[in-house]
Amino acid sequence: MAATSSNSLLLKNPNLHSNGFSLKNPTTKLTFPSSHFTAQSRLNKSMSITCAATQSKDLSTNNSTTPSQDRVFNFAAGPATLPENVLQKAESELVNWRNSGMSVMEMSHRGKDFVSIIEKAESDLRTLLNIPSDYAVLFLQGGATTQFASIPLNLCNPNDSVDYIVTGSWGDKAFKEAQKYCKPNVIWSGKSEKYTKIPSFDDLKQNPDAKYLHICANETIHGVEFKDYPTPKNKDGILIADMSSNFCSKPVDVSKFGIIYAGAQKNVGPSGVTIVIIRKDLIGNAQDITPVMLDYKIHAENNSLYNTPPCYGIYMCGLVFEDLVNQGGLVEVEKRNMKKAEILYNAIDGSGGFYRCPVEKSVRSLMNVPFTLEKSELEAELIKEATKEKMVQLKGHRSVGGMRASIYNAMPLAGVEKLVTFMKDFQSRHA
Ligand SMILES: Cc1ncc(COP(=O)(O)O)c(C=O)c1O
Repeated sequence: MAATSSNSLLLKNPNLHSNGFSLKNPTTKLTFPSSHFTAQSRLNKSMSITCAATQSKDLSTNNSTTPSQDRVFNFAAGPATLPENVLQKAESELVNWRNSGMSVMEMSHRGKDFVSIIEKAESDLRTLLNIPSDYAVLFLQGGATTQFASIPLNLCNPNDSVDYIVTGSWGDKAFKEAQKYCKPNVIWSGKSEKYTKIPSFDDLKQNPDAKYLHICANETIHGVEFKDYPTPKNKDGILIADMSSNFCSKPVDVSKFGIIYAGAQKNVGPSGVTIVIIRKDLIGNAQDITPVMLDYKIHAENNSLYNTPPCYGIYMCGLVFEDLVNQGGLVEVEKRNMKKAEILYNAIDGSGGFYRCPVEKSVRSLMNVPFTLEKSELEAELIKEATKEKMVQLKGHRSVGGMRASIYNAMPLAGVEKLVTFMKDFQSRHA
């Protein structure tokens, strides 16, 4: 390591950057404000390098599909893998965001820097999903689970009827929560068929007075995804979708929905941020008992800054949105997702029954691929061997068992290819 000037260093040994850096180039120039460097040197006796990078990385320059050597392919359902170039950009801005002299974590949420971050995040999301101007975008807290209550509290009186199509555990949870605040009906449930199907929309017995029709667009646990959307029978009713696990995975016609909501931690950021896209005329009708934090009107009037928002999470979502825009938007993102899913489902279906996906083919999720092994006693071994090969979190949800590979936007094609090669090899050794 040689100092090249008072405030820069040349790292020649890649092992030197185990302390917070993941650098691809063997020789990388790091730039430090000299005062920061001196202070850190005094604090850290065994000198580790802390970098207050003054230049942020250009997101568009690093769309690598192979992760750095120290990263695994993470097939978790959420929190889930994030784009490595986004993580690297966040790393480069962690200590000193764009010459502000502080981290995003330290900023006032009402200051101009953070306001620029949340505005850019919203603007990129609007671009990605082509969100009409009569829709508000809210960045909230409480996870999608909180929305299970917020929705009926904001849209219904206690005696109002609403309809739920239950295609999996999350839709069921949403329905159960709504029972506290209005009169929900399950108009279709896939439970008896172990949540492997989506109903035909013609057969639905919708209540003509239902204020809304609720669906879970992608059931994360069961791997069942709506490919098209039902229309509410009530002409004044609206369609509401929990898109937590397929948010921004493909283009969506937002105008078909009254509300779209999603927890960020699968496709667009870390946990702690919940995004609500809501048609503006639906705002302002909350029940009197609605807690202030669940009232859409309060959040909309305050541009999601009524109280301290999850600032760092919103910043991370913003980086992901920017990255998706740079990738060519959701049309391109969907193409990649379809390719990844096709490779994996083909491997399962072509295994002669060694692997099996229980979900009806036409509604298989592009994001969450559940599968079982004919010899279920081999499941633990498969997980163990895959983990050794740096492919982790393949265990199915505890409520259904088996395996599940979540292949969200940020899972590179290389990860799916590696998994499929491994699965074929595993089969040849254990068939
Ligand atoms: C489809 C779906 N809805 C809702 C939730 C609950 O989200 P949260 O944990 O953010 O409350 C999840 C979480 O995995 C989910 O996958």
